[in-house]
This record gives sequence, C-alpha cells and structure tokens, in this order.
Amino acid sequence: MTAVGIDAVEVWTGNLKLDLAETFAPEKGDDPEKYTKGLGLRASSFPDSYEDIVTMGANAAKRLMDRKGLTPDDIGRIDVATESSFDNSKPISTYIAGCLEQVYDGDFHHANKGERKFACIAGTQSVDDAYNWIRAGRNRGRSAIVVATDTALYARGDAGEATQGAGAVALLISEDPDLVEISTHQGYGSADETDFLKPNQQFPSVDGKRSVQVYLARMREALEDYESVAGDVHIDDFVYAPFHTPFPGMVRKAAALAYRHVTRDTGVEEELAEGIGRQPRRESFDDDAQYEEAVREYMDALKETGRYQDWYAAAVDPTLSIARDVGNWYTASVHLARVSALKTALEADRDVTGESMLVASYGSGAQAEIHGETVQDGWAEEIAALNIDEQVADRYDLSWAEYEEVHDRHNHDMDSELEEFTAPEAEFVFDGWGRMGERKYTYVE
Ligand code: COA
Repeated sequence: MTAVGIDAVEVWTGNLKLDLAETFAPEKGDDPEKYTKGLGLRASSFPDSYEDIVTMGANAAKRLMDRKGLTPDDIGRIDVATESSFDNSKPISTYIAGCLEQVYDGDFHHANKGERKFACIAGTQSVDDAYNWIRAGRNRGRSAIVVATDTALYARGDAGEATQGAGAVALLISEDPDLVEISTHQGYGSADETDFLKPNQQFPSVDGKRSVQVYLARMREALEDYESVAGDVHIDDFVYAPFHTPFPGMVRKAAALAYRHVTRDTGVEEELAEGIGRQPRRESFDDDAQYEEAVREYMDALKETGRYQDWYAAAVDPTLSIARDVGNWYTASVHLARVSALKTALEADRDVTGESMLVASYGSGAQAEIHGETVQDGWAEEIAALNIDEQVADRYDLSWAEYEEVHDRHNHDMDSELEEFTAPEAEFVFDGWGRMGERKYTYVE
C-alpha cells in the first residue's frame, strides 16, 4: 500500500506577543510562576490589526506552496479547520484560495473546498479527510492543503485569558510523503460534553476545570480504542507523543495518565514497583473515593521517579517548546506539537527517520483521537526549512494597554480602529470590507 501522510508543514504566528510573566501576571496580581510553571506558558501570540484567520492561514499556505514549488493545478482539496470563523456560510477555505489566486498563475476552480468544525480536533479531522480522499483514489495524483487557523481569544477576565493564542499551520497531504506517514489505525473517545462552546458567540463559554477532566477522560477512551485495533502500546515504542496543547500543563497531566495506563501489567510497572509499589486496582478497594485517593498518591509518586521523568523529558517535553511561546492555537495546536518535536530532534542532530510517534488530538465538546505516524526520510530537510524561530522572535511585545486595544480591535461586537504595531512584509493583509459584508484581502510585497 502506498504511504499517505504529511508531505510538508508550514507555520505562521500572529505578529504580536503578550508576555505572561512580565505583562499579564502583574496586571492580574498573580505570581508569574502560575503561568510559567503552572500552565507552562511564557507568552501568547496575537494578531495585529491587519491579521486574522484568513491572512495567517493564507500566509502559511503560501510558504508551503512556494517551498514545495507547487502550482494551483497540483492541489485537489483545500480544507480549513477553525473554531474562529466569522462566516456561517462561506468557508474560510474560499477566502484563502482567493488570496492565493492573487499571487499564483492559475486557479483552484477544480479543488474541493470546505471547512471543518469540531473545536480543536477539527485540524486532525481535516487531515483525515484528505488522507481518506487520497486512499480512495479520488485525488487524480494531486495533493490536499489542510489549513488549521485560529485566533483563540477569550473574554477579558475569563480564566482562559492566560491561554490565548493566534496562529496557523498549513499541511500538505500527499502520497509518498516527505515528513510523516499516517497509520490506518485510529482510536476515538467521543461523548456529548458541555465543557467549552460558542453558541453563536465569538468568545467561548468555558468550564475550565471541567474541560481539563473531559480532556483526560476522552483521551483515556481514545487510547483504549486505539489499543483495541493497533495492539497494546508499549511506552518505549514511540520517540515522541505530540498531544493537543491548550497549555503545556495540560499535557503534563495527560502524559502521566497515559504513562500509567500503558505501563499497567508490564515490566515497567514491576520495575517501578520496587520504589513506589504497584498501581492501585479498583477491585482492591471498598469504594471509589478510596481508590481515587490511592491513584492520586500513585501518580504523585510516579511523577517523581527517574524512569518517568526520563521518558517525559525525551518523548513529551520536546513537543511543547513552541507552545510555551505562542499559547493555544486551537485546531493547529497538535500540529505545532509535532513540529516542535521534530525541530528538537533536528537541533539535537538526532536522526529520527523510521521512528514512530503517537499523536493525540482533542477537541472540546468532546472528542479525542489517537493514531500512529512514522517519520519519513525527508523530515530533516522539511523541518530545517521552517522559520518559526525568527517569526516568534520578531513579534511586537505588547504593553497591557496595547493588549486591551488589540483585544477590542478583534472583538466582533466592537467597532474599534487601531493602527498596526508591525509593518506587514511579503504577506496577505486584511484590507477592509466588500459590498456584501465580506472581508477583503490583499498581498503586500
Ligand atoms: N507556581 C507554580 N504553579 C502554580 C502557581 C505558582 N505560583 N499558582 C498556580 N499554579 C498552578 C496550579 O497549581 C495549577 O496547576 P495544577 O492544575 O497542576 O494544580 C495551574 O498552575 C493553574 O492554576 P489554576 O489556579 O488552576 O488556574 P486557573 O484557575 O486560572 O485556570 C484553566 C486554569 C486551565 C482552568 C484556565 O486557564 C482555563 O479555563 N483555560 C481554558 C480552557 C482550557 O484550555 N482547557 C483545557 C482543555 S481543552
């Protein structure tokens, strides 16, 4: 069977930055370590006044097409995943295709376009759609572009305000991919949950503490479902485990839970038992409360062991390096985690060709999905071509008053004008409104 997967990836961050320790924490009267250590975040990215989900997505897609030497005829699908759409009918993929048609000869008139919605997991679902389209043999030799793009803004004063972010990831899905092959095995954990939603409103209604519990519950279900088709996961089978990363502290919790699950009844559990005992089993306790307390104690002890810490440092921590500086990118977040991991490998001069990754996506509402990927031999060249470090370093550092202005500028219920903080260069920009209320875009050299 021909390999199908991610041929190339590109990343575009919002051009502004809010420093959580230096700017956010003092304003809230909080210890900066609540953000840097507790949530695991240094800063969030924000869109400048001329940026939005279309410009960020189109800019990432343009970098992708330029780098791979693609023309519109090479692309048979453009799928956009977002939970920040401003249009309930016309998909963001049409706006992005319109942007790209301004700068390339030819057009995307024979490319299927759509928009996927399921909170943060929609990016992975769009990759799935593209994968299935190729596997079904309907692609006529063409590739798909998947763009995951979001402005993750919360109402001011909401607990989620510390976990905002803005950015896009563009992925090229092809046969014989250069970056990773995607496995056919998948596991799902999906249930009707009310943890995070936007019922016809821009900023989410969030039950933050509950959303953390729902993430963990659905992730555990997805892992069990994955193991039912792919066989038992061994903790050392995977070089990296990129998770959906609303904030790195969330992944810290999910990783420990996954570790406990997959090491149960294995030699690793026995090896650890000498120091911290075996994992509590429900049948050994009279009630749920006693069992849950024993599990909490086991987890606390597990996280202190060298065996666990070494695994976390090698397989999970590298996936969080970009998120720490940009915050939550919703649909793009797990795809940024994959980039972070491979970028860390490249920087450490480590060859991960042929190694496996376990990729764990999540969307509130709620669904988790887990699948395996195999790193392909073009990965190092692909990752070396990214300029995410420069993009992150070049962002304008907002003061608190400027942050409030930017937040208002992007609030759909407010009609506020704002001079840009950065000068756009070689990128698409928002350029005002059309006669039917559509947003218009232009390319700035
Ligand atoms: N030093 C170190 N750690 C600190 C600290 C300090 N001074 N102060 C607080 N912390 C830790 C807390 O112990 C907590 O970690 P823990 O959960 O491991 O115990 C963490 O920092 C966050 O503190 P908390 O008081 O829980 O923050 P909060 O009430 O502001 O809310 C969220 C945190 C995640 C609930 C909130 O940001 C939110 O609603 N986010 C949006 C929803 C979301 O992203 N959900 C995730 C699933 S998709």
